Amino acid sequence: MTAPRLAVVVLISGRGSNLQALIHAAANVSMHVELRAVVSNVADAAGLALAAGAGIQTRVVAHRDFASREAFDAALARCIDAFTPGLVVLAGFMRVLTPGFVQRYHGRLINIHPSLLPAFPGLHTHRRALQAGVSEHGASVHFVTPQLDGGPVIAQARVSVRGGEDPDALAARVLEQEHRLLPMVVECFARGRVALGANGKILLDGQVLSAPLRI
Ligand code: GRF
Repeated sequence: MTAPRLAVVVLISGRGSNLQALIHAAANVSMHVELRAVVSNVADAAGLALAAGAGIQTRVVAHRDFASREAFDAALARCIDAFTPGLVVLAGFMRVLTPGFVQRYHGRLINIHPSLLPAFPGLHTHRRALQAGVSEHGASVHFVTPQLDGGPVIAQARVSVRGGEDPDALAARVLEQEHRLLPMVVECFARGRVALGANGKILLDGQVLSAPLRI
């Protein structure tokens, strides 16, 4: 018997390698995840072809077609809601979302970010990590709140920084970890094991998590 599956909508802006990792994982019959649609704000995002190739519905809501962030986010929400997802995943979605949008999906909107949050929110995380001379770097999956990359962190994957490494090499090693981390967290959420508690704390199996899960 196949497992009951949670409907998931994935938002992307580009390459879609994290989406590909989710597609690969969701193909497993024991997973509790159904990728119901992929929505991009960029019409030629490579990830759209990956989704279509896997038989997943795709939509484009181009931010350039809207006069304001609010108008874009309202159209994006209409598009997402047509698929009635239980979870919305930002997988390389490169737009800042309005507080209203974030509130609408409170507790069912997650993002993958390429740093060990709270370190290095925002862009160019690998370069900044190298410049800061950290010995460990990695990726985080967090619930989205109105503060950019500032929501409660569910889980992290770590890599040791190598001497002399350049940002591209570090990014590639972090990305490998992202591809393990994101499907794991999505599956945990789909199984009802992970949730956002009323006080903004992460609950794992009903217990408050004192620190992000490490994989
Ligand atoms: C990833 O590094 C993700 O953490 C960040 O944007 C990148 C997207 O890559 N938010 P991809 O489109 O999933 O290949």
